[in-house]
Amino acid sequence: RQVIMPRDPSLPPEVFHWLPIIGSAVQYGNDPLNFFFKCQEKYGDVFTFILFGRRVTVALGPKGNNFILGGKSTVFNAEDAYTHLTTPIFGKDVVYDVPNEKFMEQKRFVKVGLSTDNLRAYVGMIEEEVDEFLKIDPSFRVYQTNDINEWGTFDVIMALQEITILTASRTLQGKEVREGLNKTFAHLYSDLDGGFTPLNFLFPNLPLESYRKRDRAHQKISQFYIEIIQKRREGGEDHEHDMIAALMQQTYRNGEHLKDHEIAHIMIALLMAGQHTSSATGSWLLLHIANNPDVAEALYQEQVKFFSTPDGKLRSPTYEELRQLPLMDAVIRETLRMHPPIHSIMRYVRDDVPIPGTLSAPSKDTTYVVPKGHYVLASPAVSQMDPKVWKDTSKWDPYRWADPEGMAARAFDTYADESGEKIDYGFGAVSKGTESPYQPFGAGKHRCIGEQFAYLQLGTIVATVIRRMEMRIEKVPEHNYHTMITMPKKPRIISYRRRNFD
Ligand code: HEM
Repeated sequence: RQVIMPRDPSLPPEVFHWLPIIGSAVQYGNDPLNFFFKCQEKYGDVFTFILFGRRVTVALGPKGNNFILGGKSTVFNAEDAYTHLTTPIFGKDVVYDVPNEKFMEQKRFVKVGLSTDNLRAYVGMIEEEVDEFLKIDPSFRVYQTNDINEWGTFDVIMALQEITILTASRTLQGKEVREGLNKTFAHLYSDLDGGFTPLNFLFPNLPLESYRKRDRAHQKISQFYIEIIQKRREGGEDHEHDMIAALMQQTYRNGEHLKDHEIAHIMIALLMAGQHTSSATGSWLLLHIANNPDVAEALYQEQVKFFSTPDGKLRSPTYEELRQLPLMDAVIRETLRMHPPIHSIMRYVRDDVPIPGTLSAPSKDTTYVVPKGHYVLASPAVSQMDPKVWKDTSKWDPYRWADPEGMAARAFDTYADESGEKIDYGFGAVSKGTESPYQPFGAGKHRCIGEQFAYLQLGTIVATVIRRMEMRIEKVPEHNYHTMITMPKKPRIISYRRRNFD
């Protein structure tokens, strides 16, 4: 005889599902945003769903983002949520394979490698790599013929994946990795990348060839970096502008240097952290620009205004100048609002945590609790598309960011008024706090440290492309959520023609 136990009233509402273990995996996996918006309508900002036996409690909206991303890292724990996915790829003794304090030291070391001096040196290198790519890649045949009247096409993801790895390896990763890209490194990278999928997240160990390839590739890439480090050390060579050089000089608070394998594994982590996020964002950027010829023209005119030389040419921007282009900045911001590459930020719950009544409360006298053993999930992607926060939320409109008195600011006011509190989101810098509707780079302790690099990389790529070609696409594709990072669905073919540029 089955005894049905009454459900603990302190548990947040559970999303209805037919399949016991699988739970809501199909709805979540196919379209997490649609799933979250529907659940929000039904259950409010906080609810629990089942994902292959895991209990995942979602907290939505700026307060939900704050609850999870501003939570204590010992209680809402990232290592426990991610290590089974990341450690086989990155390797031992770094990131989520170590206690959080140690990883925070490693993050500080990486920041040294991302210093303004380093970033300044990167602009020219990125420009050169993009230029070179356009000159040799077969998709850009029409560009290469110099004919300004003929149109060609390219697959935006294919192009941006190449451009992103070329530019990241030329700059952050260093010349040995850049050289290796033409040889074995590209294949190894691709095998390693095959281990970064939702399947790997859900099932850490399966007897599949892709898992074995991932492990072999990790071994070889790790060895490749270790040899670079050892050669540099023996040769006493001076590579002042890349990440390996920066990491080789760092020491932990206890006086220990980073070990060679730790440097190698941090380099792999950075490669993975930047590759899909930047290539996806770059793709969405070019898709929207191609879909909005007026914005494309305005972006081109912005380049002309800032970088024209007396002989009618366009000179290279500097790092500082690149950061001060209002439309370029707005175009990137707006693209990250609608297409943040990471739709779900997860933590494992190590202790029971009460949910603040302002976020979700069952009645006056009870408080909901997220119990130990659940996962929590924040999705800034939801607040970034919330019609209560953003006017015409589904419209890609970079100009909403341009006017402090304009749409975005008004939308923030409206939101703040509704919640009864006046929150200063600090216009233009809205991704800084943990209680903000706009957080494409996350917030709190685990916030991204690649933001400046990503803006530099994306800004330089867009500037270089917009100077050289016009682009068109009739429709911006929908999201494909079946990859770890949100990508545009196929077809994603952009038409282009060469501008009169020399
Ligand atoms: C963390 C987004 C590019 C390195 C994060 C997080 C987000 C994010 C949302 C928070 C994850 C969490 O809380 O669990 C992005 C976006 C990028 C980008 C949208 C580009 C458009 C990069 C690049 C690098 C990088 C280029 C490296 C050069 C990191 C690192 C963390 C991080 C080290 C810290 C993880 C932690 O503390 O747990 N990023 N990222 N990211 N990102 Fe990025």
